[in-house]
Amino acid sequence: MKAGFYQFAPSFGRKKENLDKVLSAVNDVDLDLLVLPEFFATGYQFISVEEVAELSEPVPKGYTTDFLSALSSEKGIYIAAGLAEAMGDRFYNSAVLMGPGGLVGVYRKTHLFSEEKLYFTPGDTGFRAWDTDIGCIGLMICFDWFFPESMRSLALLGADIVAHPSNLVLPYCPQAMPVRCLENRVYAVTANRTGTEDRKEHGEPLTFIGQSLIVSPEGKVLTRAREDEEVLSVVELEPEKARNKSLNMFNDIFKDRRPGSYGPLSKKTKK
Ligand code: ACM
Repeated sequence: MKAGFYQFAPSFGRKKENLDKVLSAVNDVDLDLLVLPEFFATGYQFISVEEVAELSEPVPKGYTTDFLSALSSEKGIYIAAGLAEAMGDRFYNSAVLMGPGGLVGVYRKTHLFSEEKLYFTPGDTGFRAWDTDIGCIGLMICFDWFFPESMRSLALLGADIVAHPSNLVLPYCPQAMPVRCLENRVYAVTANRTGTEDRKEHGEPLTFIGQSLIVSPEGKVLTRAREDEEVLSVVELEPEKARNKSLNMFNDIFKDRRPGSYGPLSKKTKK
């Protein structure tokens, strides 16, 4: 199967423009799974609750999910994409997995980053992975990568491919993803964005680091975008490779786990 990311610089608040850009980028491209950045339709740097309320949408019956659903069914593909979800008076930093038959599932970001905490509710879905006809696909969003438990949870749920919509500003993720993939023997497709948002009168601008990448279960970087380019990259993946967790005759990284020795992982830290 072929998986790809579209790395671009969404314009803040201009949904139609951003969706049109996605449409023209994927138009003639042959792939089975497309991963789009976190908040790909709205941009990232929200500066008020009112703005979040105005730009967030119900899932699945919203402008952006309607677009993704139409694109998925027209092209017969799966799309993983990040968007601002409205649910009653709460807002989530969410990602959807859309398939040719409609919405496959929703994931709400577990680990909110920085000022996201001012506007969004921490996710309540837990990590999720879905069996599809192109493999088992799990979702995590951007900063979730910083917590090894995220990818481990997805791998234990059976994910072959972790789709990772992102708006990365810290420099570390591109170096870390090969390790995350290696220690879980899964593929990952990180779709980051490029560009700068400077929407606060006296605040820091945010510059996104690009460098979207696709990594194999052996921790090999199969493709990696530059920091500043808008690009759609596609790579051939073999999901069944991610189902083999064996390293040698004696070691299988899942069978060798010792959950009884990992007690502190299920406890909150004291401070
Ligand atoms: C991030 O989680 N958007 C850094």
